[in-house]
Amino acid sequence: MSDTVQQIKDRLSISDVVSGYVKLERAGSTWRARCPFHAEKTPSFFVSPERGTYHCFGCGVGGDIFSFVQAVEGLDFKGALKLLAEKAGVPLDYARGKKTDTDHRDRLFELLEAATIFFQNKLDDVAEKYLKERGLEKKTIKEFRLGYVGDEWSELSDFLKSKKFTERDMLDAGVSKKNERGGITDKFRNRIMFPISDSAGRVIGFSGRIFGEKASPDAPKYLNSPETPLFQKSRILYGFDKAKQSIRKHNFAVLVEGQMDLLMSHQAGWGNTVAVSGTAFTAGHADLVKRMAENLVIALDADEAGIKAAGRAARAALTAGLNVKVAALPSETDPADLIQKEGPDAWKKAIREAKDIITFLLDVLEERSPQRDKFRRLVEAAVLPFLSDVQSPIAREQYQREIAERLGVSERAVAEALKKIPTVYQSATPPTQEIKKMKSDRARQAFSILIWQESLEKPHLDVKEFEKHLKHALGEKAFRELRELPESEQEPMRFLAERQHGKSAGLKREVGPLLRVLQKERLSAELQETSQELQKAEREGDEASEKRLMERCRVLTAEIAKL
Ligand code: UTP
Ligand code: MN
Repeated sequence: MSDTVQQIKDRLSISDVVSGYVKLERAGSTWRARCPFHAEKTPSFFVSPERGTYHCFGCGVGGDIFSFVQAVEGLDFKGALKLLAEKAGVPLDYARGKKTDTDHRDRLFELLEAATIFFQNKLDDVAEKYLKERGLEKKTIKEFRLGYVGDEWSELSDFLKSKKFTERDMLDAGVSKKNERGGITDKFRNRIMFPISDSAGRVIGFSGRIFGEKASPDAPKYLNSPETPLFQKSRILYGFDKAKQSIRKHNFAVLVEGQMDLLMSHQAGWGNTVAVSGTAFTAGHADLVKRMAENLVIALDADEAGIKAAGRAARAALTAGLNVKVAALPSETDPADLIQKEGPDAWKKAIREAKDIITFLLDVLEERSPQRDKFRRLVEAAVLPFLSDVQSPIAREQYQREIAERLGVSERAVAEALKKIPTVYQSATPPTQEIKKMKSDRARQAFSILIWQESLEKPHLDVKEFEKHLKHALGEKAFRELRELPESEQEPMRFLAERQHGKSAGLKREVGPLLRVLQKERLSAELQETSQELQKAEREGDEASEKRLMERCRVLTAEIAKL
């Protein structure tokens, strides 16, 4: 495994990997960008190609290509490994014969992959005809790996058993359930199966739409996999694995509600569409989108329920720092219906004409309540909460102005009303680590040059020599204290040193004066101390000490003068 990791690191530079997600700009020998992990205007995210690491001075995150991909794609280590191995063209040989070694998660991934193929093979003419009637092309059906499962009780479970998966595997993967007789039954029956993948494209769960003559009329229209170790609904968007590059490219994502909506939207040319499946769009989903783009277009059915759901989604999105627009569709029409009945152009028009969330809300409310008083009250109750979620102060001010204008009140009045709104939504990710205050004193500066140089394969300085001088200049104790700083502080220090000195060819020439200043500071401090002791000795008439201290002062003064 570690071999593979090294191979991948050898083939992929950190800037290759990171530039797939954020726009990098040169900053000396490092690169800088706006941090993909927190909202910011001025870039404080730095990438060091020489060391293969990144660090954000805004939120404190840092690491190598693997930790970066894990964080940005929301993957575990194995997932990041798979993704980077593919990118690097390094084969991952998961020793096929040694199944016992693969851990449980891998086992579940294998099981779900086997189940997906099983369902795909079951997709018969009847089911396929239905999907085609709904407007799906063969290509889409194949690409999204749609399948079908019939009326049998334990078809899939039996199949998986024959493939040597255990009952525990099946239960943990969420494809089977225990029956009253202590046996095991399939969770999905009489359904068109939609595999749901993680962002690396590995199947982690399913959504099944009721289908077939034998289906029970009481069964829910859509059934989703339960929460499992792999399938965590609050962090998974249907279609995200296929949409993410397009989301990044276009700097926006389209959010729809259902499986069919998602497929039809992709097919209509909007490869940047994602869907929630059977859950609300929450902070976890918003963070996922935020890593790829700054904008979200929420498509919704413009009826009461649709607006409510979109409202909740919008608040989560705004809180994550996304700009939110609303593509309103005719009542009782979802994107799939619209695309099928009126064609891709109608869908395109809806997306193009999407209104900014605040404008959208104002329009809806104004239309519904022509009386000014009522309109004002509604805005206060239903629009200001959205405004308080807007992360950018500039955008917030623009909205404040718009609302004030529309209501015919002063901006100050809007601002006052806004202050009373509690902020309800919290991001699902823990607050970013408080930026560690870094003292910019010279001792630290010089030390950071040392550890930066030590981290390079080909340092620009004679590191041993520099260390000796630095130790001498700082004194053993101070030097040891710096050495004992935690790695979490040392890495940012390396970055600072690299930023400051990375592009200067004459590092050697720069460190000379720095060391001299340090030494001067230390000697001056000692001189001051010694002269105080000297005064004391004079007062006490301690001649022996007086003589010794006088000599020391003379030496120190001479040394300082030489520097
Ligand atoms: P809808 O009821 O609007 O279904 O649910 P739909 O997407 O239009 O389905 P089609 O077009 O008839 O096939 C929207 C979404 O809500 C989730 C599903 O993800 C569905 O796509 N849902 C719906 C469930 O999870 N369970 C249900 O019972 C119904
Ligand atoms: Mn529908």
